[in-house]
Formats: sequence, structure tokens, C-alpha cells
Amino acid sequence: MSHKIAVVGGDGIGPEVVAAGLRVMEAVASKHGIDYETVEYPFGTDHWLATGGTHGGETLPDSAFAEIQSMDAVLLGAIGDPRAPVGLVEHGVIMRMRVGLDLYVNLRPVKLYDERLCPLKDKKPEDVDMVIVRENTEDAYTASPEFENKGTPEEVASQPMRYTRKGTERVIRYAYELSRKRNRSKKLLMIDKANAVRAQDLWTRTMAEVGEEFPDIEQDHAYIDAACMWMVKNPEWFDVAVTTNLFGDIITDVGAMIQGGLGVAASGNIHPGAVSLFEPIHGSAPKYAGQNVANPVATVMAVAMMFDHLGYTEVSQEMEATVARLIQENVIQSLSAGVQSTTEIGDLLASALAG
Ligand code: IPM
Ligand code: MG
Repeated sequence: MSHKIAVVGGDGIGPEVVAAGLRVMEAVASKHGIDYETVEYPFGTDHWLATGGTHGGETLPDSAFAEIQSMDAVLLGAIGDPRAPVGLVEHGVIMRMRVGLDLYVNLRPVKLYDERLCPLKDKKPEDVDMVIVRENTEDAYTASPEFENKGTPEEVASQPMRYTRKGTERVIRYAYELSRKRNRSKKLLMIDKANAVRAQDLWTRTMAEVGEEFPDIEQDHAYIDAACMWMVKNPEWFDVAVTTNLFGDIITDVGAMIQGGLGVAASGNIHPGAVSLFEPIHGSAPKYAGQNVANPVATVMAVAMMFDHLGYTEVSQEMEATVARLIQENVIQSLSAGVQSTTEIGDLLASALAG
């Protein structure tokens, strides 16, 4: 069977890190006899500008969306460019795929591969090994912004945090299953702010009710403010955590820092059993674009997550172990931009993983 992969390089450094990711993917697939084909799409701010920009510019046209719907996975670089209004292309491309493809889990592993990468004093790889399960289709992210009396002193702007029982339940169930599968602390942490955002009482009740199906998994709870504090102070307390879309966005940037920075953090936007999207957590970093300095390790880790989703769990583990080893051996000297070139790191990983 041949897997069909949509590729969207996107803005800024996106196309460069994706090119390196594809190079590594090719090496890995040929070693393991995995058959796939890629379809590259030009979507991002250049495309939006070229097709008209504010005068009807295209973000992700329906025809391409329909094609992607029938594929197995999407590899995305990054979206974001100051030439477009804030959030417009992000919404049109990333949010359209997250919501349109119903990718209800945003899976964000936080794992430290070498002590020297951790900014926290005395924390070692065994202290930083967790997965944040971020809800990915609801919350303020998918509510419409509303402005009353716009531009006047009486202006009121709102974009509600909206949660459905179904949306909450399915992501919480996924997180319980993951806790069971990881088989580490056997404790699921729910992160919310139900003491202030009282609508999140829905999360509190759903966590308890779904938990009855998982008597082997202990239920734990932290408010988002405290969770940010604990993640920095005692990352070893974390194993699997589930949280809302907005809080998950914020806390996974904290997570990325304690695992060595945005140069390594990857994520999967997943609908179990269906087409899913994999991307580095970092943004488009326009200042580094086109210079071959961006670090592609996070994109390579996104490719590893993609192989896992496609059913090649051992291949994915081999990729992760190789990335970890090259970091530990200082072959990959840094996760920051500019220490080694994008293509050099891509080549190093491709040859280390080739058969
Ligand atoms: C992320 C990003 C996106 C988000 C932006 C680009 C809309 O920060 O994937 O974490 O907020 O989800
Ligand atoms: Mg983010």
C-alpha cells in the first residue's frame, strides 16, 4: 500500500525545514520499504498574496481540501507572515485543517534528550518525559470574534471559550487511553481553570465520568497557572496531561523550552484512524527564512510522529532514538538556529537513518 502525504511548507522557514524533513523521510522509508507519494501544496502567505491578498486571496481552496481529505497524512512547516493581517492565513490554513479534518487531538510530547539542553538546574532526561494532550477543535479558537461598537470608546469584543460534551469527552478518553498505553505513572492530570472559567465544570465532570471506565488510572488535577509553575519546578511530576485548546497552546511552549527549545518540539494533530497533520511547534521565524539556518530537528520529529500514526511504531522509535543519540554525541551540536545549517542537519539525520 502506498501512503499519500500532503506537504505544505508554508511561510518563512517552513519550506526549508520541510525539505530537510522530507529528505530524512525518504531515507527512512527506503530503508524500511515503506511506499509513499507526496503531493506538495503552495499554501501560505506568498500564495495568498499571489492570488489577490486582501482582494479574495486564497488560503486553502476547497478543491485542495477535498484532495487532502482522502490522503493519509499532512506534513506542515509553519504559517505566519507579517505581510498578511494577524491570524488570517493561520486561520485559513492551519485552523481549517484542524477543524475541517476534525483533528481533535493535538498531541505534544515533551521529552529531554540530553541534560545540557535543559534550562532547568539539575534536571535530567528522566525528569522531563511527558505528553500533553491538547484539545484541538473547540474553545475560543473556533468561536467567532465579535465586536460591538467597533472603534468607539464603548467597544466590546468577545470570543467565547466554548466546549461541547462530545468534544471534551473524546479528547479526555484519548488521554486516559494514552496513560494506560504509556504505563508509567498511570495517572492522568487534567489542567483547567474551572475556578475562574466556570464553564469548565463540564471538563471536571467529564474527567470524573470517563474515569470510571479506567479504574487503573488515577485522576489528578491542576489549574493552568499552577501547572505552568509545576512544570518548571518539578517536571518529573508530569506524565500524561489533558487540557483545553488555549491552555494547551500556552503550556506546550513552556514544555518546548524545558525539552531544549522550539528547535526540537513536534506535534501531531490527530483524528485516530484518519488523515492527520504533523508539524513542528515552532513558527515561521521570518527573520531566518531563506538562509539555511533553521533547525529541522522538530520537523524530523514530526515526521517520526507521522510514521507512528501510519502504523510504523518501531520506525518512529528508531527515528527518535537516532535523533536523541546524535544530540547526545554532539553530532547535532545545538537545537538553536544557525549553529549548523538546515541542510547539514538534514543530511546527518538522513545518513544516520539510511539502511
Ligand atoms: C501552535 C500555534 C498555533 C496555535 C497558531 C499558529 C495559530 O501557536 O500550533 O501552537 O495557537 O495553535
Ligand atoms: Mg502555539
